[in-house]
Amino acid sequence: MIDPKHFRTVLGAYPTGVCVITSVDAAGLRTGLVVGSFTSISLDPPLVGFFPDKRSGSWPRIAATGRFCVNVLGADQLDLCRRFASRADDKFAELAHGHSPAGLPLLDNALAWIDCRIERVEDIGDHWLVVGAVEALDSRAGGTPLLFFRGQYHDAVEIAQGV
Ligand SMILES: Cc1cc2nc3c(=O)[nH]c(=O)nc-3n(C[C@H](O)[C@H](O)[C@H](O)COP(=O)(O)O)c2cc1C
Repeated sequence: MIDPKHFRTVLGAYPTGVCVITSVDAAGLRTGLVVGSFTSISLDPPLVGFFPDKRSGSWPRIAATGRFCVNVLGADQLDLCRRFASRADDKFAELAHGHSPAGLPLLDNALAWIDCRIERVEDIGDHWLVVGAVEALDSRAGGTPLLFFRGQYHDAVEIAQGV
């Protein structure tokens, strides 16, 4: 039997980046969810994935749109991370943002964005595995990623400099 607290502590030693998965439905209702579980899966065909918790309120709304946009957060975007990791009804309230080529919410100054069509969803334990077929993507020059490690946020530069 694996103790859940021990599981979280040990897995927290594996650092992740932080992304906001966004989408919008036909009525214009925008949805966003912070994930640390985003990963590149395949180059040919181009596939990426992430693991939403089965208790996520945002995921069913994103799933219904059939699409999502991955917004990779920079170290200076902790405010956006907190906003989209909340369970607020409207996480986009008073937030200006752009749009990806697919028309999905694109957060200003994200380090990278990836437009995807939902290719498949697998039932895995207490999470879903969502696989997205990449339709368009780009990254901006400069910036350092927001990192999550041992339960805390970090700036990659700060870690490199031993701050
Ligand atoms: C750094 C970080 C990483 C997270 N990674 C995930 C994840 O991979 N999958 C997930 O379902 N939730 C993850 N969460 C939690 C969700 O962001 C949070 O539970 C969610 O926003 C709840 O809102 P919802 O009910 O609208 O989905 C993470 C939160 C943080 C702060």
